[in-house]
Amino acid sequence: MNDQTKAFNFVLPSTIQYGKGRIKELDQILSGMGAQKVMLICDSGIVKAGILEKVSALIGADKTVVVFDEIEANPKDYNVMHGAALAASEKVDALIALGGGSPIDAAKGIAAVALQGGAVRDYAKKPIGSNCLPIIAIPTTAGTGSEVTFSSVITDTTEQFKFTIKSPHIAAKVALVDPEMTYSLPPAITASTGIDALTHAIEGYTATCTEPIAEALGLYAAEYIGKYIVRAVKDGSDEEARDGMMLGSLIAGLSFSHADVASVHCMAEALGSLYDKPHGLCNSIILPHIMRENLPYVEYKYARIARALGVSETDDRKAALMGIERIEAISAEIGLPNFKSLKIDPKDFRKLAEMSEKNGSNPSNPKPMTADDYEALFYKIHEA
Ligand SMILES: [Fe+2]
Repeated sequence: MNDQTKAFNFVLPSTIQYGKGRIKELDQILSGMGAQKVMLICDSGIVKAGILEKVSALIGADKTVVVFDEIEANPKDYNVMHGAALAASEKVDALIALGGGSPIDAAKGIAAVALQGGAVRDYAKKPIGSNCLPIIAIPTTAGTGSEVTFSSVITDTTEQFKFTIKSPHIAAKVALVDPEMTYSLPPAITASTGIDALTHAIEGYTATCTEPIAEALGLYAAEYIGKYIVRAVKDGSDEEARDGMMLGSLIAGLSFSHADVASVHCMAEALGSLYDKPHGLCNSIILPHIMRENLPYVEYKYARIARALGVSETDDRKAALMGIERIEAISAEIGLPNFKSLKIDPKDFRKLAEMSEKNGSNPSNPKPMTADDYEALFYKIHEA
């Protein structure tokens, strides 16, 4: 268990509005905020899937909508800067972030830079003031949890490094979480984003800086995701599974935003920065490997995760190992590829290892990890 004498704060700046069909409340939320001109932030996939059109149609004729659909995967610093310039010149008074983690993370940067100026990179080091544009976050994947986190991970395209900006001021004012938004998600994205959510649950539960509420949320989220991920991937029309994944992802987001992520994300973000590989996919490949590294440090917690995933073994060490095997079996069943398919050049392993060590979440990993440890692990995963 966690140290029960440890002091902690639990702040939740976002109002969560969860439920099937609640996307229809969007206009009412905007009116409640007094918004008259809004910027809708998304990526080209959302436009092609017809989701932008569907959501735009819900916004009342009394409001003006400016669309910014240029967000890329692993959102880039220039995506934020272009979006912020447009929001400032159009003088919008609210942002709608529609999509997976990339548009929602980018919106958080835009919210600050549009009103406070400067480069988004600067906010990794300096405090973010309270004058940010309000965000309504509408997730379309059950994965990132970004709709309830205070942080945003952006790629510095000059240095090829991901940096994080973090403040309650950039958190969404409203997380409008409607599981129906995920019903048309293709199986491969359901799989990789679902394992990303499971990683958030496990890392939030076990991070060195975690606290009791984040632990409880992480464990509970793991149970939802373990129960429903295979069903949601195999049959996208299984509404119970889709709803369960949306809740699991949301609760996992609450867990890690109040604790942290750890080494799985350190390695995945390095891969995302250098090779622009999808975040969820990288996490899904790395997760069981980091869990084997961490096992001696968090055996009891991994045993509890295993039981949340349906393992009934009573011995903690055996249960913890069975839990890792269960995650590997789930990944295989939902068709996630192996590391080799990412085509990472081993010559880059040292650089990737150094980037992983430099990641702000590295100290949150249960096992202290050095660049040498990461390098050895990249080789091990490559050979697996
Ligand atoms: Fe993640």
